[in-house]
Amino acid sequence: MNDSKLHYADYLELNKILEAQHPESSKKGEMAHDEMLFIVIHQVYELWFKQILFEVASVKSLFIDYVDDKDLGLINARLERVIKILNVLVSQIQVIETMTPQAFLEFRDLLVPASGFQSLQFRLLETHLGLTWKERGQTEQQFFNSRLKEEERKILDEALAEKSLRTLVDEWLNRLSTLKLGLETFWDDFQKHLEETFEKDEKSIQANSTLGEREKAFELKNLQDSRESFEALFDDKKYQTLLDEGHVFFQRESMRAALFITLYQEYPLLHLPFKLMQNLVEIDKLITQWRYGHALMAKRMLGMKIGTGGSSGHEYLRKTAERHTLFRDLIQLSSFLLPKSQIPKLPEQAEKNLNYYLQLK
Ligand code: HEM
Repeated sequence: MNDSKLHYADYLELNKILEAQHPESSKKGEMAHDEMLFIVIHQVYELWFKQILFEVASVKSLFIDYVDDKDLGLINARLERVIKILNVLVSQIQVIETMTPQAFLEFRDLLVPASGFQSLQFRLLETHLGLTWKERGQTEQQFFNSRLKEEERKILDEALAEKSLRTLVDEWLNRLSTLKLGLETFWDDFQKHLEETFEKDEKSIQANSTLGEREKAFELKNLQDSRESFEALFDDKKYQTLLDEGHVFFQRESMRAALFITLYQEYPLLHLPFKLMQNLVEIDKLITQWRYGHALMAKRMLGMKIGTGGSSGHEYLRKTAERHTLFRDLIQLSSFLLPKSQIPKLPEQAEKNLNYYLQLK
């Protein structure tokens, strides 16, 4: 038995946490009732950001240099924990929405120029997951240079200098692509099948009488874009152009490995890698959902007013939601899928290598 007489409040250092709410309005003489909620909800978010960063750091450390296959289950378990927390963060927006725009106005001006924009942990989260400096818009870059404290900027620069989870996953997929699966003829077969599907889709758009000329042109253009991205998977030069123009982030071989894993996800050896990719897409989706939810909430609170941090408010937030998806390469793979019945059968050697029981023979 532990005889140190550890006490609940001491262990959790509640004296620090519960003494950390000091509304600006109280300091000015009259407390605005809703400022307490405003402070508490930000603190709760920051605590969850801390936990997410902790999990992401541990996942990154499992990826560095070499991923032990035995760790894939653990990596997935930690990412699934992040997913659960992000679900809480998305649903918590409804708590702050119990504050009316008028109640917010009681103390809003006292907050200037402080803003969630300065949340170092949020910036670290974006960075560790994979958002690069180049991908940030101009407003963000300028704000980073002017609104973060010097020591915060230093911490962020250190994070930017590290390999992000997105880069580590890219490198891991790239290594998987070198597995000896005897797939020499497989990709030719697959290309043929998918090309037929693209042609069928093109004919059905052309023949669709419910579409106007403009809609038809729009759909055909989308189809053509998917076709070109797919062709680029087999053409170094074309793929390099997509990379240079920032349309894709993953390397070509990584994309092919990711596509292969997605197509044959039910094979035992591919199932955990598939789950991992799905978890990353889910994390991306939930962060985007949070960004949209937060942007709509800000619009409701502020209307056309600018944010306390000086951005255009809702407009800025909406744009970051659209721009900052991180695993769009994995999402894009859905354009290259075929119905199960049309997926080429794998060569015998590949089947052997991907099944547990065949390997025991
Ligand atoms: C009344 C409630 C809120 C309003 C009106 C609001 C408004 C805004 C606005 C306008 C911005 C853009 C920067 C600026 O000009 O200030 C911003 C950024 C941000 N806010 Fe909020 N916010 C609210 C609550 C929250 C909460 C509860 C969190 C939780 C941590 C949060 C986290 C953030 C973060 C992380 C950013 C940076 C987002 C980015 O740059 O992509 N905000 N907020």
